[in-house]
Amino acid sequence: MRLSVIGTGYLGATHAACMADLGHEVIGLDVDAAKVESLNAGRVPFHEPGLPEVLQRALASGRLRFTTSFQEAAAFAEVHFLCVGTPQLDDSGAADLAQVNGAVAGLAPYLTEPTLVVGKSTVPVGTAQRLADAFAAAAPAGAGVDVAWNPEFLREGFAVADTLRPDRLVVGVTTTSAEQKLRQVYAQMLDAGVPIVVTDLPTAELVKAAANAFLATKISFINAMAELCEATGADVATLAQAIGHDERIGRRFLQAGLGFGGGCLPKDLRAFRARATELGAGSALDFLDDVDAINQRCRTRTVAAALTLVGGSIDGLRVAVLGAAFKPDSDDVRDSPALDVAAELLEHGANVVIHDPAANANASVRLPKAGFVDSTDEALAGADLVLLLTEWKQFVALDPATVADQVNALRIIDARGVLDRSAWAQAGWTIHTLGRGTIGPTAPPRHA
Ligand code: UGA
Repeated sequence: MRLSVIGTGYLGATHAACMADLGHEVIGLDVDAAKVESLNAGRVPFHEPGLPEVLQRALASGRLRFTTSFQEAAAFAEVHFLCVGTPQLDDSGAADLAQVNGAVAGLAPYLTEPTLVVGKSTVPVGTAQRLADAFAAAAPAGAGVDVAWNPEFLREGFAVADTLRPDRLVVGVTTTSAEQKLRQVYAQMLDAGVPIVVTDLPTAELVKAAANAFLATKISFINAMAELCEATGADVATLAQAIGHDERIGRRFLQAGLGFGGGCLPKDLRAFRARATELGAGSALDFLDDVDAINQRCRTRTVAAALTLVGGSIDGLRVAVLGAAFKPDSDDVRDSPALDVAAELLEHGANVVIHDPAANANASVRLPKAGFVDSTDEALAGADLVLLLTEWKQFVALDPATVADQVNALRIIDARGVLDRSAWAQAGWTIHTLGRGTIGPTAPPRHA
């Protein structure tokens, strides 16, 4: 099929490359000429394992190209995917739909024939119908422009696999022809047994908001338990393991620690909250305020643990911060818990030295006052305190005895709960793990 993908950020670039990989003819569109040039040259402008290979393969096949021209995309494609960003508005928690509206305004005048527009961006419920009305009013094809919604569930770091082998497809449609076209687009996945849920427009939009709200709630639940564990001397890792054995609960997304960040969960949570309030159903989502607050407290608890570990004042001390991205295998620092902690320690007068294998460049723009170094060794050299804030595998694999020779004081905070704390304590370290307390030579006595 001939597809267009409008917006070539994280979601769009991955979708365009993967759809071409499946055999479709794809034109990717972005208003950012530099991004288009980079993608046409086979360069992915962000860090995503495996995506450059898929992009280059698709370009070489001749089935994929990128443009800035809405006219070209409209003339080429029979199905248009909307993949533009919906960031958070600064003043409210609501979603900023400027890019969505811009894409509709750009595309509509060139839609002279009946066509299908499929939204993939995460939008407030009700947007799809509004866009259908906007196309009907602004496109020469009028009501011949059919609008469907097909939310995306890909995770950064696994974007290619999640796009080619999703655990489900969700399509919100108002016509059988839209459903048939989408079944054709995804025929290979459907043949491979990927389940499909066909529904109406508002349900499809809500599925995405509900999925991210549930995941965020699960993470904040375990972090709330971590707070209780800290207050009682219990161990959150064992607790997560024990409750996770219950299949109704499940172990995944019960990793206690520094909590969630990134360009999706935090802003989607707030946008969902704001939309529910607009709809007069705000009280149904009151609990998401607590989910957000628990998540923010993970950051303040980490800073408090750092101050306690160094005996009260961190002013002038050298702090090695391992990780700046919101999660490993990503260079994304949007709403990154790691960067917030680093920023707070800087405020307390610490000399913060950060190393992230991929996110140094993005992080240094956000936190220019911190020092950024190119290796773990440089970050650790002479440190009075080490903080593991993003669980890149090279940090998880650090050897406590080797690191002991590099630092000035054997104190570490494992804010992601990934280190073997007994091994670190045996090597002479005092180690604090969120939700598990402090062990090692200078650890305070455990609660009664
Ligand atoms: C998330 C969802 O997982 C995807 O399904 C969704 O498609 C995507 O948002 C989106 O809306 O586009 P992503 O933001 O890539 O994907 O990241 P996750 O893997 O969900 O992790 C989010 C954050 O939660 C990270 O900061 C991670 O460190 C944290 N996390 C995750 C925990 O603190 N504990 C856990 O147990 C799991």
